[in-house]
Amino acid sequence: MNSLNTKHLEALERANQEIEAKKDRIAKSRYRLQYHFMAPTGWINDPNGLVQYKGEYHLFYQFYPYASSWGPMHWGHAKSQNLVHWEHLPVALAPSESYDSGDVTGYGCFSGSAVVDGDELVLIYTGHVDGNMPQQVQNIATSTDGISFEKYTQNPVVDHFPVDGTHDFRDPKVWQHDGKWYMVVGTKNDGKGKAVLYVSDDLKDWIYKGVTAESNGTQGDMWECPDLFPINQNHALIVSPMYGTQNEKPFYVIGEMDYDQGIFTQGVNRTLDYGFDFYAPQTLVDEKGRRIMIAWMEKWLTKMPSQEFGWAGAMTIPRELFLEGDILKQMPVPELAELRSDYKKLDALEVTDKVTVYEQQESVAEISLDINVNETEASIFGIQLRCSADGKERTEILLDLENKEVVMDREQAGCGEKGMSKAPLAVKQDGTIHLHIFMDTTSIELFVNDGEQVITNRIFPDEASRQFNLFTKGGKVSVNSIETWKLDSVWK
Ligand code: FRU
Repeated sequence: MNSLNTKHLEALERANQEIEAKKDRIAKSRYRLQYHFMAPTGWINDPNGLVQYKGEYHLFYQFYPYASSWGPMHWGHAKSQNLVHWEHLPVALAPSESYDSGDVTGYGCFSGSAVVDGDELVLIYTGHVDGNMPQQVQNIATSTDGISFEKYTQNPVVDHFPVDGTHDFRDPKVWQHDGKWYMVVGTKNDGKGKAVLYVSDDLKDWIYKGVTAESNGTQGDMWECPDLFPINQNHALIVSPMYGTQNEKPFYVIGEMDYDQGIFTQGVNRTLDYGFDFYAPQTLVDEKGRRIMIAWMEKWLTKMPSQEFGWAGAMTIPRELFLEGDILKQMPVPELAELRSDYKKLDALEVTDKVTVYEQQESVAEISLDINVNETEASIFGIQLRCSADGKERTEILLDLENKEVVMDREQAGCGEKGMSKAPLAVKQDGTIHLHIFMDTTSIELFVNDGEQVITNRIFPDEASRQFNLFTKGGKVSVNSIETWKLDSVWK
């Protein structure tokens, strides 16, 4: 064993011991989610290295096991047969080498991706060392059992940012096309966020191709976590943009990829998720050919009530992506239906003013509503979730039929961040609007019209706030059906 591996193994062991020591207490702590992915201890942010390897799904993630706030980054690791039930595995990467570690704070194994190369699972990640010049470089680590990873002895595989970039140069996403490996990396220059492209035959020697896409002037000055992938006859580019020090809502662009020139031509550009708690999404293509996306269900620099209890951060539910026309739709993966029980259905309901659907709604639930707004005079159709008996605490979903907006209002939602998330609202051709809601103890994911718009937010209401109400303003709205399910915990 060389000294390089010894240092890494020691750092991993320390992290794994920390998890062992704390995980039982954390598992019982406040605000834990029931069917969303969370780390066993500490802090998580971006999903990394999403991949299916030897039939199993792997999820890695930005991880700091020692505290509930960000610290030197490790790659936490879990696997799953079905994208729903996850098994925690030993930490995959820990900061240990000159290219991913340092004596000052603010370093470690930053975000990246994973690919299967023959029998090997290969992780491609950014090493960040504050004070180094350049401070961000790209590295690889490999495994043949999908559990223990060895950092490549010749790391870094890209030891300097390209001429078009600057020292912010991170989050490699690798995929294969026509027998070659391609890698996009996020960077910035001249006040513009950019995705730069590399090509390789072996994942070790990378040739710089150039800027594959960059901000048109309105899309941020730094691009984090770019993900570029084929979908139908097109390509989609997903970016988590920064404006100065502010992280903004990830967007997607549908466009055309010219692999020879290395250029992605941007077509339409839309917000991927209109919620506050959705950042750094990453996709994988699975063995069934599905394009599946998972994001960090929290955001930088926000109030995180769970931190007080030793942990922070979770992942969204896995969502399958579909391109319809130039709209990228997101649908919860069908495997989630395994968690359903206690099915209830209400047919045809006329709502004027306010109706209480359930006094005691399950707080971990799925709700599907089909709403008919064909001939309504109403200006607003609203849903109150996690509402207290006195009505003071609540999270509202509002269909603003006048302004053609769907709003998630968490001004009165409990002790977390407040704010209103707004997305454009389109009524379907038959005059209906379909809402599909996934509630967990401290989150709501709302899918509008088969995932055309999505809003993801964390909420921190009182456990007792469980009323489920419907209301309208200015007229009557007919609801064709309401279906609800209780969802099981995956963390028993
Ligand atoms: C995005 C990000 C990445 C970086 C990682 C560090 O949330 O800032 O750009 O690699 O988090 O944890």
